[in-house]
Amino acid sequence: MRILAIETSCDETAVSYIEAAGGFEEGFRFRILGQALYSQIAIHAQYGGVFPNLAKREHAANLVPLLTKALTDAGSLAIRSEPLPMDAIIPLREILARESELLAAIIPFLLKHEKPAIDCIAVTHGPGLEPALWVGVNFARALARAWDVPVVPVNHMEGHIILPMMEMDAQGTEGVLKPVGFPLVSLLVSGGHTEIVLSPKPLSYEVLGQTRDDAAGEAFDKVARLLGLPYPGGPEISRLAALARTRGIPHGTSFTRPMMNADTFDFSFSGLKTAARRVVEERSAASGQLTDDDRMDIAREFEDTVVDVLVHKTMRAVERYGASTVLVGGGVSANTRLREALQDAIRAAYGDSVSYLLPHPSLATDNALMIALAGFFRAREGAYAEPDTIRAHGTLPLT
Ligand code: KG4
Ligand code: ZN
Repeated sequence: MRILAIETSCDETAVSYIEAAGGFEEGFRFRILGQALYSQIAIHAQYGGVFPNLAKREHAANLVPLLTKALTDAGSLAIRSEPLPMDAIIPLREILARESELLAAIIPFLLKHEKPAIDCIAVTHGPGLEPALWVGVNFARALARAWDVPVVPVNHMEGHIILPMMEMDAQGTEGVLKPVGFPLVSLLVSGGHTEIVLSPKPLSYEVLGQTRDDAAGEAFDKVARLLGLPYPGGPEISRLAALARTRGIPHGTSFTRPMMNADTFDFSFSGLKTAARRVVEERSAASGQLTDDDRMDIAREFEDTVVDVLVHKTMRAVERYGASTVLVGGGVSANTRLREALQDAIRAAYGDSVSYLLPHPSLATDNALMIALAGFFRAREGAYAEPDTIRAHGTLPLT
């Protein structure tokens, strides 16, 4: 099956075109035929965070160029031999009524090119920023109409869970499903989410707990801002924390581990940001301004605190549900400290009897490959939706 996937839930615009076959029972494998991703990070960094309407505009401007690149790289974009009938274009005016820029780009694209060899379009319909999600959803609807292919709506978080299950080849173009034992406990940590999810079997999800306020990635981004570091803050904090450790900067700060011992799988990270702000203010008042050592010390203690809480709660879920596999997904899963601390905790408690799945660091943050893969498994189950009924759903739950 050939799938074209579209991801626009936050600040990455991504298109992935893959061929996949098999399933959880019959040796799943896939090949990337073409893909393209445009990160808006540099644009949002000027404002210190993601603005939904700015994200929407950027998605609309970039989707057709990214689709063109992905299909061209795959060698699947042929020039039309005969003109496209106008009645294929007319319905698009209605579908893209609220996306005039996208409509203006898609019409010349469709007039010029043959329909590529695709069996299905997968599109993220939530969770995420609603204005941003709508652009991708409407784009998918328009292509589905013009090419007469079915659409499968994908939950972005399911993409973050499916991706770490894949073993990629050295070139990063082909992959197979790793052996995955169930029950599976997934820790999903991103800019918008912090959840612990139980899967008793493949493609089945029960959210055990989630953040009551800020997401882990959001906490990284906010504390980075307090320290005068650019967006996104996760990699910056991580870099300073690593420097503090290698240089042996003395520990001058300690944060309480929020909700670590509470009998719930929920999290809370907003108090940590307040605690960090207090330390920043005290240190600034004491010495006139925050020194580099202060920054490294605070970054290290903040990272250690978040990692301690995430690892502790995940391990509790593994024990409670007798998990065979632990998986980490979402942008914060790029964090080296988290990757290693969870690995160490699993080895210490279970040796090799519990396996541990991580995404390749380059695929930890948002991409369309994860949407293509989740879309494939859903399509196999027949989870197609009538294109006109697909809605962007900012708080779409994982079910
Ligand atoms: O999954 P993602 O790309 O987008 C969302 O769906 O939110 O996650 C982005 C988040 C940002 O908050 C970013 O600061 C965080 O992931 N992040 C990290 C690291 N790399 C990205 N957080 C901690 N350490 C990192 N190395
Ligand atoms: Zn994400």
